[in-house]
Amino acid sequence: MSNSTATASAAANIALVKYWGKASIENNQPATGSVSLGLEGLRTTTTLEYATGDHDTFDTELDDKARKRAASFLDLVRQKYRITQRLHITTANNFPTGTGLASSASGFAALSLAFNALFSLNLSKTALSQMARLGSGSAARSVYGGIVELIPSDDAYAIPIATAEEWPLDVIVAVTEERPKAIGSTDAMIQTASTSPFYQSWLSSHADDMTSAKQAIAEKDFRRLADTSEHNCLKMHATMITSEPPIIYWQPATVEIMHEVRALRSSGTPAFFTIDAGAQVKIVCLPSATDTIRQQLKAITGLKRVIVTRLGGSPSVTTS
Ligand code: PMV
Repeated sequence: MSNSTATASAAANIALVKYWGKASIENNQPATGSVSLGLEGLRTTTTLEYATGDHDTFDTELDDKARKRAASFLDLVRQKYRITQRLHITTANNFPTGTGLASSASGFAALSLAFNALFSLNLSKTALSQMARLGSGSAARSVYGGIVELIPSDDAYAIPIATAEEWPLDVIVAVTEERPKAIGSTDAMIQTASTSPFYQSWLSSHADDMTSAKQAIAEKDFRRLADTSEHNCLKMHATMITSEPPIIYWQPATVEIMHEVRALRSSGTPAFFTIDAGAQVKIVCLPSATDTIRQQLKAITGLKRVIVTRLGGSPSVTTS
């Protein structure tokens, strides 16, 4: 039996070992595995209801491009589950969209969870992760909270590897650019894979970073996780910077913060940075260091604002 409305909340995540490049563009298969942290405070809430006409309709601040992307995703999953019903979609993020803050991850995870609930599909978490991946590779990880691994295969899916309770961490999002990014992650990945001389090295060195990060997480070895994550992030950006034409997401404040975080770590503050396809810096730290880092960031010119969240991000779903 289906429900008349379903609402899902899913959190954004940040990858410490990143997915960059696709094994298949058609099925949105990541070329590599990845490991991420769920961001408790950065959420998308999406409600699905039946539309009255023969089109999907939206109640959202999302632009036309994002609406089209959501509607194509819904067409794909409707076809897969033999559903013809058009939908009315109400969706909102509680954080800035399209600036490299992983709104596609929380967005497609929330949409998948709500779709499953509205039509009572009773999909497993693995199938939900695979569904979300069709919308965005990183969304496959947002069907879980905590620390999550994406396993590449011919139908890639994520698995949870540690809970927030097992290793409480904070994430400070340093927003250095509020304008939407110039190139989205899918186009940037394709450009990088076809033109960067470093892309093959990125692929061939990736498994070592996965092993190292997972071992660091299992042993709660912050220093090792810091070194591996920063190395993996900089390798990913090196492939972008060396693509033709180059993709340089960083702003001056992005680089300033990287230096600041490295200086803090050298003087004993447990913190490291990571940067996705955008200018924002995400600083991962032990909760005891959060206030010190916030204070230090105040000196950075070009820093627009700071969002602090803890590791978490388990999704929730309600129906009526
Ligand atoms: O899921 P997408 O298509 O938005 O790509 C995500 C790419 C990165 O955020 C840069 C890395 C990752 O693993 O999340």
